[in-house]
Amino acid sequence: MTRRPLLFQPLALRGVTLRNRIVLSPMLTYAAERGHVTDWHLMHLGKFAAGGTGLVFMESTKVDPRGCTTPRDPGLWKDEFVAPLERITRFVRGHGAAVGIQLGHSGRKARNSVPWEGRAPLAHHPGLEDGEEWELVAPSAIAASAAASVPRALTVPEIQDMVAAWGAAAGRAHRAGFDVLEVHGAHGYLLHQFLSPAANRRDDAYGGSAEKRRRFAVEVVEEVRRHWPAKKPLFFRVSAVDEEGGSIADTVALARALRERGVDVIDCSTGGMTPRSIVDPADRPGYGYQVPHAARVRAEAGIATMAVGLIVHADQAEAILQEGKADLVAIGREMLHNPNWPLDAAQKLGVEDAFADLPAAYGYWLEKRHRAGFGGRPSTWQAGIGPAAS
Ligand SMILES: Cc1cc2nc3c(=O)[nH]c(=O)nc-3n(C[C@H](O)[C@H](O)[C@H](O)COP(=O)(O)O)c2cc1C
Repeated sequence: MTRRPLLFQPLALRGVTLRNRIVLSPMLTYAAERGHVTDWHLMHLGKFAAGGTGLVFMESTKVDPRGCTTPRDPGLWKDEFVAPLERITRFVRGHGAAVGIQLGHSGRKARNSVPWEGRAPLAHHPGLEDGEEWELVAPSAIAASAAASVPRALTVPEIQDMVAAWGAAAGRAHRAGFDVLEVHGAHGYLLHQFLSPAANRRDDAYGGSAEKRRRFAVEVVEEVRRHWPAKKPLFFRVSAVDEEGGSIADTVALARALRERGVDVIDCSTGGMTPRSIVDPADRPGYGYQVPHAARVRAEAGIATMAVGLIVHADQAEAILQEGKADLVAIGREMLHNPNWPLDAAQKLGVEDAFADLPAAYGYWLEKRHRAGFGGRPSTWQAGIGPAAS
């Protein structure tokens, strides 16, 4: 019997066992209504579970209405959001996937139109709660870009309220039935703003030295851990490097501090601190361009990592794991293109029971067709659905 590819070996994290190491990366879909998820989210996340994904992440869900990137972000700042999310977690888990949620706050990068309306900063917008103004808040009164409004610097008591809001949202995420929680500390959003001297010019306990700039992220993680059961894994997404000097050495130091406070996996992304890309515009980002950061953090901070960014091919994903560069691979846009990516990858890597993770209503028939000698390759690759070319 051939050895099962690492990509398709289960992974135990605390009390949660993932059926494989393929993760749907958190991706905003801008389909919520005043913070509420809709049937869209059930369909969207459900189809990745049905496609065989190991861990399906719900998009960045906000802990505070002021933290929404757009008016169409989902929220978890009040109890009434729990029941509709629970419907989703039950469905996703019912199809064999673990279900994760990313909690976020956009800080000075909040209040924009949705991408297909230009993703432009909105000078004003009514708050997502009746009667509220939508105020931009951040560590310091420094705008995210020339086009964005200047945020108001949070006071220390407000920072403490913000930490409490992360904890309360984590408690709700648990009650909604999520298996995994990820704190969004990347892409120039609120936690990253505190970490970066480009956005954090405070001279109190939350700014100044690297350790003081880390304090907000550390307190958020401690508070989240207080509300998130010890048997459930906690992930933290970083921008491992950014355009404003944020370095891999800073990230390794942060990862060590977070590991001691109960973070299990560092999800290694990059950038987002300014509208500039960290990738040279002359140079398109290459396949797996962020993987070296996941490898460095894993080796130097002694913590599990998730690699993300232009991971597209089955062999590429398997090699990342085989070479010890990461413990999980997250896939974003390629899964939007092909929600059955895990099925195709299993076939590509020669997994014997490739159809086993599909719902019986699909897997039974596809397996039967496969045994009858019809191709394992997607039909679009061939002149029809004849036997696979060897
Ligand atoms: C439509 C879209 C929405 C995204 N939303 C989020 C998000 O909510 N949280 C986050 O951390 N990253 C978000 N990202 C980044 C993805 O999670 C991922 O890191 C990125 O797309 C690179 O991976 P890929 O090349 O596999 O797409 C988003 C990306 C896309 C394309």
